[in-house]
Amino acid sequence: MTGEVYYPHKELFKNPVFKNMCEYKEMVEEFEKDYEGTWAKLAREKITWFEDFKQTLDESNAPFYKWFVGGKLNVTYQCIDRHLESKKNKAAIIWEGDNGENKTITYLELYREVNKFANLLKSLGVKKGDRVVIYMPMIPEAAFAMLACARIGAIHSVVFGGFSAEALKDRIIDAKAKVVITADGAFRKGAPYMLKPTVDKALEEIDFVEKVIVVERNNQDIEWTHRDVSYNELIQNQPDECTPEIMDSEDPLFLLYTSGSTGKPKGVQHSQAGYILWAQLTMEWVFDIKDNDTFWCTADIGWITGHTYIVYGPLAAGATTVMFEGVPTYPDAGRAWKMIENYKINQFYTAPTAIRLLHKIGADEPKKYDLSSLRILGTVGEPIDPAAWKWYYDVVGNGRCSIVDTWWQTETGGHMISPLPAATPFKPGSATFPLPGIFAEVIDENGNKMPAQEKGLLCITKPWPSMIRTIWGDPERFVKSYFSTAKKNGKPVYFSGDGAIYDEDGYIWITGRVDDVINVSGHRLGTAEIEDAIKYHPEVAEVAVVGKPDEIKGESVFAYIVLKNPENIAQELEFIKEVNEIIKKEIGAIAKVDNFAFVPGLPKTRSGKVMRRILRAIAKGEEITQDTSTLENPQVVEEIIAIVNSCG
Ligand code: WTA
Repeated sequence: MTGEVYYPHKELFKNPVFKNMCEYKEMVEEFEKDYEGTWAKLAREKITWFEDFKQTLDESNAPFYKWFVGGKLNVTYQCIDRHLESKKNKAAIIWEGDNGENKTITYLELYREVNKFANLLKSLGVKKGDRVVIYMPMIPEAAFAMLACARIGAIHSVVFGGFSAEALKDRIIDAKAKVVITADGAFRKGAPYMLKPTVDKALEEIDFVEKVIVVERNNQDIEWTHRDVSYNELIQNQPDECTPEIMDSEDPLFLLYTSGSTGKPKGVQHSQAGYILWAQLTMEWVFDIKDNDTFWCTADIGWITGHTYIVYGPLAAGATTVMFEGVPTYPDAGRAWKMIENYKINQFYTAPTAIRLLHKIGADEPKKYDLSSLRILGTVGEPIDPAAWKWYYDVVGNGRCSIVDTWWQTETGGHMISPLPAATPFKPGSATFPLPGIFAEVIDENGNKMPAQEKGLLCITKPWPSMIRTIWGDPERFVKSYFSTAKKNGKPVYFSGDGAIYDEDGYIWITGRVDDVINVSGHRLGTAEIEDAIKYHPEVAEVAVVGKPDEIKGESVFAYIVLKNPENIAQELEFIKEVNEIIKKEIGAIAKVDNFAFVPGLPKTRSGKVMRRILRAIAKGEEITQDTSTLENPQVVEEIIAIVNSCG
């Protein structure tokens, strides 16, 4: 891992925050010299405070860090109100529907819609600190809903629309939501799809949800129950002024459930001030956002990328953000490029999976469109392979755009490691260097920096403003998940779950998760969750799930299944179909099994722990380097290898 080097085309950048690596280094040094002072300066410069903060960082109860203590603000004031004076008629959101229709919402219109929605929530009894689950398609009302919660201080928890009723139910219960906001459904690939029936199912055994607000988007028939209210009706009578709730810097802004290596998904809790500061700063630093830019992030708002880079970041920066209901492959492989041409998109942000797919289905497609407005191409969610990087760079970016390979996580709130578009020399496949203020390091468990080309733990060794504050309702799990793997100078530091390597030039290369989290098409899934779902099948005795490298998806789900009665299974594919039906019900179709092997047993230690490392290596077709003689059942390894090899 050293790689070729590409240099930014500086003429594309008129007034970037970082013009060259010297400026980057100066800023890094400023943080090294005066960490708190530099953050305090940025926070005062960027945030419109109702009341200034008293203390920059409170470490007294580490790792429950507090930032900008005593400060008062409202995130929607930062994202909307403060822009009205100079850009009330500027497009805040440009929305494009699945069928190509579009809608522009100006900052003034956004202000009104968010206030009306906030008043609607209030009229239903929603108060500061209440949790509101948002299960929505990619329509502007989804952004209004998030911001309406923030306006009144309610804590939103957006659940990705691809999750099943069971998964939705678990999240509603964990957050004890008072209200659910959903839509009848929306459109995808020219056809309607539904969300509301999933909400009905999720709520079958729940009695604490008081109201379900239904946005009527696709106007298909749905059942209306006693607790449902129509957004389209109720919104009509709402006043379009709503005083923003005065929030403390550290009040929770939202929860977002994500997968861990064990057990059920965890509710990652984010704060107000630290989160919005970093969302805005990274828009300026990494995306070089300028007043006349149009920014398009293709994520779904159900993921952190959608939170930070469709809604909060672009709006805090006063930018124009594009929101897209459909998929980039419909009606044809040129859809995304056509949109870039139409809206003259300046920054395009997507996942390696999408890049590989678009490459595969239409390698020359981008050439048919005028993509000259593009300045920055971003990628996120999984390591990008150099081949995909080069196609993105050469064909989509026409050999001139900067590629920002941004490494970050639900827990980090915003980018942590990324090139700066006008400054950093790029290496295809490397996320390059930590952003100023972010002490991301590749270390061993004791905090020693790893030498070049040796894999270590990717840790962040100082707290940062947009970091996860806790796991909702489970502070112990927060400490255990993130602050119990590595220490530096004797102090626990944040461990990301990823492994990484420095090259000789100090570039960071992310090697992927070292825990039991897999990354399928950029969607983060816990192998334990998938295993728990598969175990519902009555014929399954034991199961272990690992990731298998996949040309398009990055990783796919590989299940090793031990059957109770192998003789009962006549049709393997039928059986896997049944298993996938269960996964669809328990989690969602994104977690479905792509590859499987029926095995006589799983390799276990003498204490009964499944040795996943061995199973991962077999799925990857790698040699087993580990000593298997200490296993309880070493012979099973050979048997599994033979079975997997015979499946091809
Ligand atoms: C992976 C998504 C390599 C990583 C924002 C991380 C990446 C997980 C990159 C977080 C990247 C994200 N290069 N790997 N540029 N970006 N990842 O929480 O394994 O959905 O831990 O947040 O995605 O996924 P999450």
